[in-house]
Amino acid sequence: MMMKTIMQFLAFIIFSNAVCADEVYDVLLESMTDKNFVTVERLKQDELQAFCSQPRSASADEARAAELRAAALSDVPIPSDQNYLGDWQRGEKVASNGRGLQYSDDPEQENGGNCYACHQLDPAEVAYGNLGPSLSGYGARGQSIAMLQYTWTKLWNTHAYNTCSHMPRFGAAGILTEQQLRDVMAFLFDPQSPVNRIQP
Ligand code: HEC
Repeated sequence: MMMKTIMQFLAFIIFSNAVCADEVYDVLLESMTDKNFVTVERLKQDELQAFCSQPRSASADEARAAELRAAALSDVPIPSDQNYLGDWQRGEKVASNGRGLQYSDDPEQENGGNCYACHQLDPAEVAYGNLGPSLSGYGARGQSIAMLQYTWTKLWNTHAYNTCSHMPRFGAAGILTEQQLRDVMAFLFDPQSPVNRIQP
């Protein structure tokens, strides 16, 4: 009897969870509308987003996670001329700019990378978030091809290395252009960039 009650309770939890996920999606669809250039299409998840939105137990499927990382990695266009570094001064502007992709933004304007929302970069800037690690002094890692490729790939599609990363896919999702990414790379690596300024 006791066993039956427990089984019924477990079935209820599993069932109600399944209903919940769909209900949440329906509520989202009902409560959001297209506005300017932003449409509810954005709520549709791709394979990777769907995988990472599952309960932890399901997204712990390491074989599937490895497949998703490999797919992300294979789509990253590595600059064939090995030209990874642009202009750090322009990159600084991209990193500090948090505009773009919201309905109130001008879609004709370049998007920003909003890096400071999650990272410390120029140590003199006091307003930064800490969801991501501090990138101050990043240039000390040197400019080996391996380091440039790693960073380029991380910026293009962070999921190539960390399946359920919280960082935006700047290249893969078309948030930043290749030139903007080169400029942000220079902002990280250039010895003259404030990112690599010795802390006062
Ligand atoms: C929404 C938060 C968020 C934003 C915005 C963001 N990042 Fe990140 N970033 C993270 C997190 C979290 C990590 C660490 C976990 C991971 O690797 O996924 C990370 C990791 C990194 C790494 C790897 C760090 C290492 O030690 O190897 C680099 C480089 C990086 N970010 C650069 C940037 C740059 C440049 C921008 C802006 C163009 C940016 N990030 C914007 C959240 C963010």
